[in-house]
Amino acid sequence: MKNYLVTGAAGFIGTNFVRQVIEECPDVRVVAFDQLTYAGNLENLEGLLNQPRLQFVKGDICDAKAVESVLAGGIDVVVHFAAESHVDRSIMGCQEFIRTNVAGTQVLLDSARAHKVGLYVQVSTDEVYGSLGPTGLFTEQTPLHPNSPYSASKAAADLLVLSYHHTYGMPVVITRCSNNYGPFQFPEKLIPLFITNLMEGKKVPVYGDGMNVRDWIHVSDHCRAIRRVIESGKPGEVYNVGGNSERTNMTITRRLLELLGRDDSSIEYVRDRPGHDRRYAIDASKIARELGWRPQVVFEQGLADTVAWYREHESWWRRIKSGEYLAYYEKQYGRK
Ligand code: NAD
Ligand code: TYD
Repeated sequence: MKNYLVTGAAGFIGTNFVRQVIEECPDVRVVAFDQLTYAGNLENLEGLLNQPRLQFVKGDICDAKAVESVLAGGIDVVVHFAAESHVDRSIMGCQEFIRTNVAGTQVLLDSARAHKVGLYVQVSTDEVYGSLGPTGLFTEQTPLHPNSPYSASKAAADLLVLSYHHTYGMPVVITRCSNNYGPFQFPEKLIPLFITNLMEGKKVPVYGDGMNVRDWIHVSDHCRAIRRVIESGKPGEVYNVGGNSERTNMTITRRLLELLGRDDSSIEYVRDRPGHDRRYAIDASKIARELGWRPQVVFEQGLADTVAWYREHESWWRRIKSGEYLAYYEKQYGRK
């Protein structure tokens, strides 16, 4: 049996990762650690909370005692997802981003080091590389050039993680993935916000000219990439992960309008995001070559499946949009 500590396990990618691991890895036990901020929703783990291979712990990664107590239980692999993750929120104010993404990573690193954890996986983002022009791809050698307070906090954390490898020989790996989409994504990000707005008969706010490009990857492919890295990644290395699916925001918007039976009158062009990165695109040839990982989900199919998932889980996202989901932990565990 292997024991994983998964931080941010009640968020979008953490939830998908825990579900995949519990389903497909019978030899793995998971401690799911999450502070349940606005982005964490314990309902996401419904059906797993009584499963003997999963233990949920509510806690803050900045709280050294709380982190210490879970690591003292004997952890082989730390998979660190917990973060403030929304660029627009970081532009409104980035104190929480520095606290969680930078200081929280330091607390986790120190504790993982003290407990001689076998592998520490930092789940990072392609946004640390900054913005591309119309051509070219981010490789692992691309210099870090973060442009938003969010990506700056993630880049700071990445540098700290690499410094622990260099200084202490700590076994760490970093994954830098492109934009994820799929089930359980919080409806503040482009795809779930647009799907749910259209289902509610509302307009969708397209920033600027809508021609910004992201490289979309289905969350299940990202989770499989992290699992490959845990199995065979080389300590001290960075692995880019991407979906090979560059799309403009306009292309995605038009496709969603089509899938949801709406027309262009549902589009509202709004003021651009300050400092809006124009284009992200990942060269994922290193993880393909060295670890044999490749994305499996074709974007158009994955997007249609995601729309279907949001249609089938209307009460899930309506509870989020109304704020009701925040009471779920108290209902389950009888405390705040
Ligand atoms: P998310 O915002 O959906 O989830 C974050 C989770 O972390 C939430 O459950 C939240 O409660 C928890 N959390 C926040 N602060 C915490 C704290 N102090 N202590 C404990 N838990 C805390 O984010 P996501 O989209 O699932 O992203 C997960 C990770 O993957 C992040 O590190 C993000 O930078 C990275 N990433 C995301 C994407 C993407 O497209 N979403 C792409 C590449 C990398
Ligand atoms: P987002 O999902 O916030 O991811 P990121 O900024 O981390 O890439 O946004 C994806 C793209 O969609 C980005 O170019 C900004 C744009 N966008 C909109 O046009 N309208 C919106 O309401 C949101 C949330 C994003």
